[in-house]
Amino acid sequence: MQALTQSGRAAGPEGNEPVPAPRLSGADWWRGAVGYEVYVRSFQDTDGNGVGDLAGVTKRLAYLAALGVDVVWLTPFFASPGFDHGYDVSDYLAVDPMLGTLDDWDELSVTAKQLGLRLFVDIVPNHTSSHHEWFRQAVDDPTGPFRDYYVWADSAADGGPPNNWVSHFGGPAWTMDPGGTGQYYCHLFLPEQPDLNWANPKVMEEFAAILRTWCERGADGFRIDVAHGLTKDPELRDNPQLRQVHESMHPMDVFASFQHIYDLHRHETAVLFQQWREAVADLGAVLVGEMDTRDVDRFAEYVKDRNALHAAFVLQVGLSDWEPATTITTMLEYQAKSNGGAAWEVSNHDQARAVSRYGGGELGLRRTLALTTLMGAFDGMLFIYQGEELGLPDAEVLGHIEDPMSARNGEGMWSRDVARGPMPWSTDPDKGFTSAAVAWLHTEPLPAELTADFQTDSPHSTWQQYRFMVGLRKRYPALWQSDFELLEQGVGHVTIGRNDLRIVGNLSNAPISAPALDGADIIFQSATDAVSLVQGVTWVAAEATVVGRITARLVAD
Ligand code: NOJ
Repeated sequence: MQALTQSGRAAGPEGNEPVPAPRLSGADWWRGAVGYEVYVRSFQDTDGNGVGDLAGVTKRLAYLAALGVDVVWLTPFFASPGFDHGYDVSDYLAVDPMLGTLDDWDELSVTAKQLGLRLFVDIVPNHTSSHHEWFRQAVDDPTGPFRDYYVWADSAADGGPPNNWVSHFGGPAWTMDPGGTGQYYCHLFLPEQPDLNWANPKVMEEFAAILRTWCERGADGFRIDVAHGLTKDPELRDNPQLRQVHESMHPMDVFASFQHIYDLHRHETAVLFQQWREAVADLGAVLVGEMDTRDVDRFAEYVKDRNALHAAFVLQVGLSDWEPATTITTMLEYQAKSNGGAAWEVSNHDQARAVSRYGGGELGLRRTLALTTLMGAFDGMLFIYQGEELGLPDAEVLGHIEDPMSARNGEGMWSRDVARGPMPWSTDPDKGFTSAAVAWLHTEPLPAELTADFQTDSPHSTWQQYRFMVGLRKRYPALWQSDFELLEQGVGHVTIGRNDLRIVGNLSNAPISAPALDGADIIFQSATDAVSLVQGVTWVAAEATVVGRITARLVAD
């Protein structure tokens, strides 16, 4: 088999074509955007406390601008007692002192604008911290105005929790009122994360004000935590149980043993999203929900037209295992139904890193690149999780587990810490992440080849490949602007046309012939051996994606 060279046009990073001036403007800018998730606590520490901070993000913005992303999603940096590392907010308008100050945010925001980067703040509306003033007051004064900010219910007849809902982090989703009323409060996560009652319009009013404040302070949009969970069944009915659960099961498996029709994915949440959209419409903020909803029609309802969320993460695809056939079918279903409102990603801070999840080593990286490239050719936003651009595998955690889901449920449980290791900026003992003796999450050192310093200097690194892939949407706007044409679909592979572009994503484990690429200029291939010519026929290798451009002559033909 003869390797096909990429027409000398744009074979790799060194083949960069000039990038036109900023392309993303107007209300729909987000549709063509590539985002980057920064897990703030593990990105860059500047004050030596072992925890990443806002000033650290500012310091590294130039790195992100060089990678070419358009939006930076910052995980929560609000005041928090930290039971769930910031996803338990005690004050939505204050910066956690461990992570910086409001002045640090202002500097970050100004620097981002100078570099042409937009910022998404990660807002946590499903629950607050139990340390939030609203919850304190709700407990202290059961007849006061804050009581109804949360979801309370009387016990079942036997004195136990009101229904069979379980927490994502283990145990029942209900804890007895510490104020002694005998009622229970609902928490779909930790007991220290009481769920807000979104049936109370006051809660929307509070959040509208919070969102507006951050927009006025420089936020361009929001990633909405547990967006699929905001409203609960008014009758608090039991969820149907799919299988038996037992004590030694991982909390995620216990959670998956129920059909979450009464605690999550409710139709009422779509109605609520209209109010979210109205709350920030005049400020132009973009709303992207975390959406662990497997029902594509419900997903579509959450992002429909212009009176719901702009977009939502398709966790169903991005966080699953390597399942080529299902992945292609599901992606096409979301593409067809979600009005361009999908936000694609292959990993985030809640799941094993894609490289490890997809088989590890070279194979895992190959698959990660193939799928990410393909996602970039679908409608919607594309997100990269910090460290993905370096091809990082799961971190080996030394010392104790930090993730409360695992730490609270016994030794040896799989933990989200594997995705949260400090960024390896350099080969320094602290990875260039902190000057503290030990980072907040202590992880095994990584080889020099996986550091940002090494990869940004090396012409053929994974980082360079990502930079080139991210730049595709800039260099070839047809990739997200032109009509999406499904030219061919097979088991684990798909061919897409977008104007003169042809994208062949072959996630299957066998090469496929790709007539759509015959005579095309190859403008990107996710692996060096991705495309070849055998006796005049173009082939795309297994687990690879190729982007080609057909010439004017072929278009005319
Ligand atoms: C989803 C977040 O991504 C995760 O990190 C967090 O633990 C839960 N929501 C609860 O807020």
